[in-house]
Amino acid sequence: MELEFTGKTVLITGGARGIGFASATLFARAGASVALADINGDLAHASAARLAKETGARTLGIKADVTSEGDVAGMVESVCKQLAPVDVFVSSAAILDDKLFIESDLKDWRQMIDVCLFGPMLCMRALLPQMMERKYGRIVCLASDSARLGQARLSYYAAAKAGVIALVKSVAQEVGKSGVTLNVVSPGATNTELRQEREARMQAHMGEEKYQRRVATVLKMYPTGRIGEPADIANAICFLASEQAGWVTGQVLSVNGGFAMP
Ligand SMILES: NC(=O)c1ccc[n+]([C@@H]2O[C@H](COP(=O)([O-])OP(=O)(O)OC[C@H]3O[C@@H](n4cnc5c(N)ncnc54)[C@H](O)[C@@H]3O)[C@@H](O)[C@H]2O)c1
Repeated sequence: MELEFTGKTVLITGGARGIGFASATLFARAGASVALADINGDLAHASAARLAKETGARTLGIKADVTSEGDVAGMVESVCKQLAPVDVFVSSAAILDDKLFIESDLKDWRQMIDVCLFGPMLCMRALLPQMMERKYGRIVCLASDSARLGQARLSYYAAAKAGVIALVKSVAQEVGKSGVTLNVVSPGATNTELRQEREARMQAHMGEEKYQRRVATVLKMYPTGRIGEPADIANAICFLASEQAGWVTGQVLSVNGGFAMP
């Protein structure tokens, strides 16, 4: 099955790097025009330019903070004006924190919920009316298997991501007849800068010997014998964003090398 995105416009938040950028690459290679929005505006512009050079696709880099209603409105307007109305929206922007719940406070939770739950909510709220009017839309939100299983030291990240799952399932019920589908991709550990930064903090905290034992223990939890690469997740995102997935909505697809089989 060949996925084809010629004539489609894709907007990806958190698109400057990691899973967002890997997805952008697949969409661009399959013919889409792609907008990369990120709080890191310099990287968003650089990644968009690199993508255009590598694939020949029309691309757009946008500096946008998904926690700001004004930024989100401006982002949607820029894509419409400079590319076209959005056909596919991928919500990949996120932050990660690494604390025991009892060491965290309201400020930590607010920041997490702001980025990881209110962020996708604001974007979906801004994009859905246009998609519903045009009778076409594909929304794919990134969650995490920590939301399905719970994960120590990631409690409020997991809680925000569980909120995303509930949001997507609920809105999918509301807009099903308007040609808009919403789904969740739930990755296991994936080799991106986000994970590398967390691993580096752990390595510094634990010391080399203990950290290497942790790496071996983590790998044993993956029946496929490896953690994920960004392209593993991007392939699932592109499928859910494709024409072929038109009858798939409100679903959560774990892409996790068999780590969990919930
Ligand atoms: N990498 C993993 O192991 C893993 C596992 C499970 C789920 N996920 C999820 O997959 C998605 C992508 O993760 P990744 O590993 O590629 O992360 P990443 O850190 O490499 O990329 C995330 C991007 O989001 C951007 N961002 C952060 N806050 C933002 C904001 N307020 N507004 C706009 N952009 C913002 C960052 O600048 C960054 O470029 C995230 O939703 C993450 O929670 C990742």
